[in-house]
Amino acid sequence: MYDIPFLDLPPLNGASGTVRLPGSKSISNRVLLLAGLAAGTTALHDLLDSDDTRVMLDALRALGCGVRDDATGPGRVVHVTGLGGRLAVHEAKLFLGNAGTAMRPLAAALAVLAATQGGRFELSGVPRMHERPIGDLVDALRPLGCTVEEMGTPGYPPLRLSGTAGGRLATALPIRVRGDVSSQFLTALLLALPLVAQDDDVVIEVEGELISQPYIAITLALLARFGIGVQRDGWQRFTLPRGSAYRTPGSLYVEGDASSASYFVALGAIAAHGGAPLRIEGVGSDSIQGDIRFVDAAQAMGAQVKSGPGWLEVHRGRWPLAGIALDCKHIPDAAMTLAVMALYADGPTRLSGIASWRVKETDRIAAMAAELRKAGAAVVEGADFIEVTPPVQWHDAVICTYDDHRMAMCLSLAAFNGLAGAAPARAVRILDPRCVAKTFPDYFESLFAVASADAAAVPVITIDGPTASGKGTLAAAVADALGYHLLDSGALYRATGLASQWDGVAADDEPALARLAGLLDLRFGHGPAGSRTWLRGREVSEDLRTEAAGLLASRVSALPAVRAALEGLQLAFRRAPGLVADGRDMGTVVFPGATLKVFLTASPARRAARRHKQLISKGIPANIDSLRADLEARDARDANRAVAPCRPADDALLLDNSDLSIEDSVQQVLAWWEQRRPFGPPPAR
Ligand code: DC
Repeated sequence: MYDIPFLDLPPLNGASGTVRLPGSKSISNRVLLLAGLAAGTTALHDLLDSDDTRVMLDALRALGCGVRDDATGPGRVVHVTGLGGRLAVHEAKLFLGNAGTAMRPLAAALAVLAATQGGRFELSGVPRMHERPIGDLVDALRPLGCTVEEMGTPGYPPLRLSGTAGGRLATALPIRVRGDVSSQFLTALLLALPLVAQDDDVVIEVEGELISQPYIAITLALLARFGIGVQRDGWQRFTLPRGSAYRTPGSLYVEGDASSASYFVALGAIAAHGGAPLRIEGVGSDSIQGDIRFVDAAQAMGAQVKSGPGWLEVHRGRWPLAGIALDCKHIPDAAMTLAVMALYADGPTRLSGIASWRVKETDRIAAMAAELRKAGAAVVEGADFIEVTPPVQWHDAVICTYDDHRMAMCLSLAAFNGLAGAAPARAVRILDPRCVAKTFPDYFESLFAVASADAAAVPVITIDGPTASGKGTLAAAVADALGYHLLDSGALYRATGLASQWDGVAADDEPALARLAGLLDLRFGHGPAGSRTWLRGREVSEDLRTEAAGLLASRVSALPAVRAALEGLQLAFRRAPGLVADGRDMGTVVFPGATLKVFLTASPARRAARRHKQLISKGIPANIDSLRADLEARDARDANRAVAPCRPADDALLLDNSDLSIEDSVQQVLAWWEQRRPFGPPPAR
């Protein structure tokens, strides 16, 4: 999926299957920093690949750490060679996006390093980062002897951290830090102060109540992996023992993100009501993350959960869910998911202890209240609580996401309203859905892989038209713009033709060709260079695009038994959130009830000219007149054949793109689409 302005979710009504979670953000950014400060190389397995970890990796590179990134996705290994506690670069400007887990610990570490070894570092982020408090950390660092300047508003980033070589820090007295705004300030100090605990114990004392203790537990567990055994008296006093030095564990596995798991635990509680549970892999009963305790809260609302090391299995239990009252101090991030589960409860849900929501990626209490109301809930909000009463009447909802990944992921769960009795079931539009990239770039793909919808509720756009009309390009661009699946039906005929050649099946052996088509083992995927296709496990992306494959396809596609054999395969592409189907008979035969049908045309001269340009650019010699003659012959054959002749559906909208750019054509189709959706055009952003 690309950067798209909105994603429409059709009514969803079930969930089953397996989700593999991305790596934990909290663990990833902590171990990146620890590996960056330690001596030697650490191999980090299953590290999260997201906006927040990317800014941390960029920062480490800028500071002179060695970073080798072996692959992406599951099985990814990132090798970080650390500084061994000695600055390699003494001046840098680091941009940290909206990543609190990068800003706070880097600020502490660089303040300490600059004050003792000399240097000048500027840390900044997106505008929202400059509204997220850091004053308590600055107040803890200054009495130590660190020079910290606030370059904008006092108490907020951007920060400048500087010092001269040979400075000593005042670590004889306990270092005091407030713990009631964000636990990240204490985490930052715990991660940074081993740098100056060679000769004496360093003691940190928390002033006031410490919120989000489970995140401190993660910090301590990871420090232990890097050889630093922090002594803890309750949650108020922490001692870094004299002689502390980061020692790389050599390699380390990052568990799946427990906060990300919360969306799928909730999904199971709401929608895993068939036979099979929803299985979540990456976190489980052995997790060190505090948000794993979200599972208890979800169970209190009705979820049935089984767990083991590294996995959870969730089933719907009680239905409707039970409204609960819960102090959520221990699970601040995952608690947002409870607020959305509350839509499916039998009474109000009151979540308290969530004052920290107001200083996160956005003011999450206000944002959550506003968006849940759009779906029809009654919401009361206070300084540190939210109370949600489920909708009596559900509404179609256009959800704003405030550049907050968790808002997008949480509110997607409102699309199951049909299960709560909304009739008709309501659609949900998520604005700026790509903001999930902060922690879970493939969230929606993962959701749609396990969530189901009635096929009839899944919107289909068909794009038909003659050969070389540009329908493939248009269909792919429209699918990208809407975040929908794409069916290139021509590829199925081309693949059938190719397979018949591989197997030596005669071009007129209709039953054998139909058998072949019915067993077609075809897989589609995305690579850096666009879409890719595999037939029987062998990549055929290029082979399918050849003129020879087109000719074979033209022949096999005239056989009714082949067309019938491919129909089931084509219908299976109709999956949430929606489908753009490209090919001759999409609007007439395969999806006659499609929501929007477009018939694309262009003059034979234009089409011949485009094909000519395409071939020449690939270094294939071509003659424009004979191309045009070929096209006209193929048009005649496709239009006059007995089965599924190529002609517009009666209710198709004609789009002559002879004089339109691809972008113009895409905009025209999107404008037609917008008229058929429950929502008006997206608000200006
Ligand atoms: O769109 P294309 O060039 O990839 O199509 C290859 C051939 O397959 C072409 O001759 C038309 C035929 N075809 C078809 O009959 N029905 C479809 N839905 C798609 C393609």
